[in-house]
Amino acid sequence: MKLLVTGGAGYVGSVCATVLLEEGHEVVIVDNFTTGNREAVPAGATLVEGDVAEVAGDVLSAGDFDAVVHFAARSLVGESVDKPDEYWHHNFVTTLALLDAMRANNVNNLVFSSTAATYGEPKVVPITEDAETKPTNPYGATKLAIDYAISSYAKAFGLAATSLRYFNVAGAYGNVGENREVETHLIPLILQVALGHRDKIMMFGDDWPTPDGTPIRDYIHIRDLAQAHVLALQSNEKGIHRIFNLGSGDGYSVKEVIQACREVTGHPIPAEVAPRRAGDPAVLIASSEKAMQQLGWRPQFTDIHKIVEDAWAFTSQLGDKAHSARR
Ligand SMILES: NC(=O)c1ccc[n+]([C@@H]2O[C@H](COP(=O)([O-])OP(=O)(O)OC[C@H]3O[C@@H](n4cnc5c(N)ncnc54)[C@H](O)[C@@H]3O)[C@@H](O)[C@H]2O)c1
Repeated sequence: MKLLVTGGAGYVGSVCATVLLEEGHEVVIVDNFTTGNREAVPAGATLVEGDVAEVAGDVLSAGDFDAVVHFAARSLVGESVDKPDEYWHHNFVTTLALLDAMRANNVNNLVFSSTAATYGEPKVVPITEDAETKPTNPYGATKLAIDYAISSYAKAFGLAATSLRYFNVAGAYGNVGENREVETHLIPLILQVALGHRDKIMMFGDDWPTPDGTPIRDYIHIRDLAQAHVLALQSNEKGIHRIFNLGSGDGYSVKEVIQACREVTGHPIPAEVAPRRAGDPAVLIASSEKAMQQLGWRPQFTDIHKIVEDAWAFTSQLGDKAHSARR
């Protein structure tokens, strides 16, 4: 297939673009480098530098595209609370422009990066796709609104679409891993301590109703996540919008993740307890049963040590390219 991959210079988008190229697809990336890295753009992909809202129409009209894989978004929860206007414009309005450009150019196959943040605080875990959606921040709300828009475009205009609701994506593949200017994800933050770029890792609360008192999250290896995109693209059906959760179905506490990082890096990684953060649920675990049954998806790398090993192999060779090293 000939694919437009938006946000293909970002962490998830560049790994997925790499895997899609390996699968024999032709990949055109649109990225404006707000958070992406030039060196993450895979060899073999064509790069168009620009904002999706501005250039997607021209890109799609210039060639016979079969499908779009849409990763480009802003995705910092805290920032979305402070600047909801930017999140509604950059995520929701941009995606509407993309959907309209697809429609105008008769490109009717879409895979969209949605998120566990669409659910908010779960009443039941593991979280299934029919759980209540009550996002606790504008980021999750923009992604949920996009899911509604996609559903209505599928119904009215025959769009074939899949939204993949990722839980905590981690690990690395090839020469791509997490290297953001503003880092908020647990594993890369812990590895910054091992690199010597941070003194310690903060644990937000150790009095949660979990076995060791720290919150439990579901980590999905980036390579497994990429495979779900391959499977979704090839099984999308006209007029149908499917939604799948993607996690490994198992949870690890903050303390367990820190311990795994100590074992993998050999660094003592000092940790300190800070007060709980508002809106942090105690346990977030996905049920990925539906993706396994309907997509035939089988995550291969569910062990936290493997996820951390791959993340560390990437992070430890970054040197001056590490964003945290430049601050
Ligand atoms: N990383 C996770 O754990 C996670 C979890 C759930 C959902 N997601 C979703 O996955 C997607 C990718 O996340 P990521 O972690 O790779 O983020 P990222 O910030 O690394 O990548 C986003 C990419 O999109 C580009 N971009 C953003 N807005 C753009 C625009 N308007 N036009 C062109 N390019 C633009 C950025 O420059 C960057 O390269 C996002 O949609 C995010 O909401 C990520």
